[in-house]
Parts: sequence; structure tokens; C-alpha cells
Amino acid sequence: MSPLRPENSNLLQGLLPYVVVTPENRPHFDLAPFGLAIAEAHVIDPLHTGSAPFLERLETLDGATFGPEGMPMPRWVFFDGAELPGGIVGLARPAENLSARARTLFKLPTDAAGLVPLSMFIAIPTFEPGEWMGHNLASLGPMLPDAGLKGLASYTKALGLAVFRARKQIGVTQWNSTALAVHTRLGPLELLSAWTPAHSEPWSLTYRVTITEAALRSLAREPEAELPRPEPERWVHSDDHATMKALQVEIEAGARYVITGRPRILDHEHLEVPVARV
Ligand SMILES: CC(C)(COP(=O)(O)OP(=O)(O)OC[C@H]1O[C@@H](n2cnc3c(N)ncnc32)[C@H](O)[C@@H]1OP(=O)(O)O)[C@@H](O)C(=O)NCCC(=O)NCCS
Repeated sequence: MSPLRPENSNLLQGLLPYVVVTPENRPHFDLAPFGLAIAEAHVIDPLHTGSAPFLERLETLDGATFGPEGMPMPRWVFFDGAELPGGIVGLARPAENLSARARTLFKLPTDAAGLVPLSMFIAIPTFEPGEWMGHNLASLGPMLPDAGLKGLASYTKALGLAVFRARKQIGVTQWNSTALAVHTRLGPLELLSAWTPAHSEPWSLTYRVTITEAALRSLAREPEAELPRPEPERWVHSDDHATMKALQVEIEAGARYVITGRPRILDHEHLEVPVARV
């Protein structure tokens, strides 16, 4: 497979891919996704005590991104729920090449060394071979606006799905999430639930998407990557819980809906999401 070519070439310069994986899961992963070889020193074994400083930095990354969303993970959830059953893939910079702002964010001492993660995608395999649950996607791109990291989360997720050799992905996100603009780059998202009381935020949706090479190239923002999509039939406002509940009733009765593509951003907290029945 030829290398990924994200439109923002900054992402290819100075950012180093890393993987957190147990020795047991490692043989199942592709450690050269799209030909991008991941250095042996950047394959991190969570069972090894020497990995602790890097894993602590992942926790800081999670706190900085999901903390404000009210969903930061305690370290044991990283270990039990992500590192043991699945894996973590992301992009990092050597500590000595970080901006002052990033150093402050990680509270790094002046002599700090080693890799500092700027993004991560966590996924866990399901029973269906090739199907992975996207558990976490985090990027410091928006918090480091001067670093020119536009597209960091999308590129990270594309690399991660390739490392996991995923052929399908399921995931959960909120109807008002910025991340929908990332996930919909994979193509139309089939709605498995539109209103989800099992989640602490019931205005979450559950989706499934088929992963192809074309989908990963689109996700990674290759300039000419375009995928076929149905026309939207309606636009669901991210506060419109009544419509989410009505869609859920239909889905439970057997109807199939997809999110067709990128949401419209109304303001910082509100979206309109394009939906079609298929
Ligand atoms: C969501 C997150 C991962 C995005 O990271 P990122 O590096 O900025 O992502 P990318 O640059 O690849 O893409 C961001 C997309 O969101 C869009 N976006 C920006 N602000 C937005 C907003 N307020 N609402 C909706 N979409 C928005 C961007 O326009 C871009 O899409 P586009 O290229 O089609 O225009 C990052 O903000 C984050 O870590 N957030 C906190 C954790 C979180 O919510 N994770 C997702 C869980 S499912």
C-alpha cells in the first residue's frame, strides 16, 4: 500500500508514530501501516515498568482532552479496558522538540526526555473478526493552534485502524461532538442507536462503519479521496432529543439509518447532522 498523504504535510514531518501493545497482541498488529515503519523503541509494552513515564503522559493527554468533557479515564481503565485487550496508536514528538505551550501542558521539567504523545486512538477488538470498538480518540491539535496540526485526530485514527487491521469499526459519540466531523470521513455511519440510555450521556449515538483502504485514505485527508454517500433526507439538530428518540424507536423496529457525512457546525456547541434512511 502506498503511504498516506494527508493534505497537511506538517503531520508527516516531526511527528513519530507509537503503539502501546502487549507482547501477546503484538503479532496481530501491522507495525508498518501504509508502509510507515514504527520504530521498535516506540512500541510500548504496558506490562513493562519502564513504560510507566510514557503511559503517564497518555493519561495527561486524556485529562487535557476528555477532562473538560467530563469523561477523563482513571489509569486502571487505560490498563484493564484498553492496553490489555486492545491497543493505543498515536503520534508523538520528542520532548526536546516540543513548544513551550506543550511543555507546560505536560508539566515537563526542562531536562525532560523521551516521547510525548500529542494524539491517541484506542480500540478494542469485538467477537467479530476484524471488528474493533473505537474507545477513545484524543488530539491536542485544537489546544496547540500554533503548531499547525490540523487533521491530527483524523490521521491518527486512520493509522490506528490500519495498525489494528480493522475491517469494521463500531463507536459511540455524542450528537454534538466535534469528533463526528472526523468519524464521518470514513463514509456513511450506520446508526446502531440514536438515543442511548446505557451511556452516561443518553444523547450519544452508536455507529458502525466498514473500513476499506479508500475509507482510510479519506479519513487521513488525502486531497482527492472521496467516498460515495447517500443524499441527506433530514438534518438532526444536536439538541433535538425528541428526534433522536423517534429515530431510536424506528431503529428498534428494524429501520436502518445512516449519518451521511460531515455535520454542519452551527456554533461551538451545536451541530446539524445529516441523516438518511437506507
Ligand atoms: C475531537 C478531537 C479528537 C478532534 O481533534 P482534531 O485534531 O482537531 O481533529 P481534526 O483536525 O482531524 O478534525 C477536526 C474536525 O472537526 C471540525 N470542528 C472543529 N470545531 C468543531 C465544532 N465546534 N463542532 C464540530 N466540528 C468541529 C473541524 O472543522 C474538522 O473537520 P473538517 O476538516 O471537516 O473541517 C479533539 O478536539 C479532542 O481530543 N477532543 C476531546 C475529546 C473528544 O471529544 N474525543 C472524541 C470522542 S468520540
